[in-house]
Amino acid sequence: MKRIVILISGRGSNMQAILEAKLGAQIAAVVSNNPLARGLRFARDAGVDAKVVNHRDFPDRTSFDRALGDTVAAYRPDLIVLAGFMRILTEEFIAQFSGRIMNIHPSLLPAFPGLDTHRRAIDEGVKLHGCTVHFVTPALDHGPIVIQAAVPVLPDDDEDRLAARVLEQEHAVYPQAIRWFLDGQLAIEGNRVKFSAGCRYPGAMTSPLPE
Ligand code: GRF
Repeated sequence: MKRIVILISGRGSNMQAILEAKLGAQIAAVVSNNPLARGLRFARDAGVDAKVVNHRDFPDRTSFDRALGDTVAAYRPDLIVLAGFMRILTEEFIAQFSGRIMNIHPSLLPAFPGLDTHRRAIDEGVKLHGCTVHFVTPALDHGPIVIQAAVPVLPDDDEDRLAARVLEQEHAVYPQAIRWFLDGQLAIEGNRVKFSAGCRYPGAMTSPLPE
C-alpha cells in the first residue's frame, strides 16, 4: 500500500477530507509545525500518527526543514500532501522529495499566489475564483498543475462567503488529485502534468473532471 504524509499548520479540513476519502493508501502520519493546530486532534482521533516539528524550536528555516525532512522521511512516504501548511519549504527539502509533494492553493493559479487570495480576488473584481492542486517546486505557488476548480464570485460576496465556496471545492479536488497520483495517472513534464490515457477531460467548472 502506498504511503502518504500530510503536513498541516491549522484547522486541517483538507486533511480531514483526505482521511475521509478512503483513498486506499496508508496515511502514515500527519505532521504540523504548529503544536496548536486543530487538525492534530482529528488525526489522532482517527488513529493516525500525529507529530509536531515546531519551527519555533529552530534557529532558521534550513535547520527546521532538515528536521522536518528527517521526520517525514522516516515514514517513507510515496507522497507528501501539504494541506494548509503555512511554511515556505527550502529548495533542499523540495529536492529531497522531488515530484512527490503536492499542495492546494486557494486561487486559480497563476492568479493570486501568496496570501489573502479571497480578499484580493474580490478587490480585483474577478468573476471566477477557485482552487488549484499542484506539484511543489521551488517557485512558490507555481508548480505543475494537477486540477483546478472554479466557483463564481457573487456580487455580495465577502471574504468568508467566498472562502467557504472555494473550500467546498478544495475538499472535492484534493482527494481526486491524490487518487490520480496513487493510480499512477500523472506524469510531470516540464511545468505540465500529463494524464494517462483513459483519464476523463475537462468539464465546465472543474478541470479535469473528477471521476
Ligand atoms: C485552505 O484554503 C488551503 O487551500 C490553504 O489554506 C487553507 C487550509 O485550510 N493553503 P485547512 O487547514 O485545510 O482547513
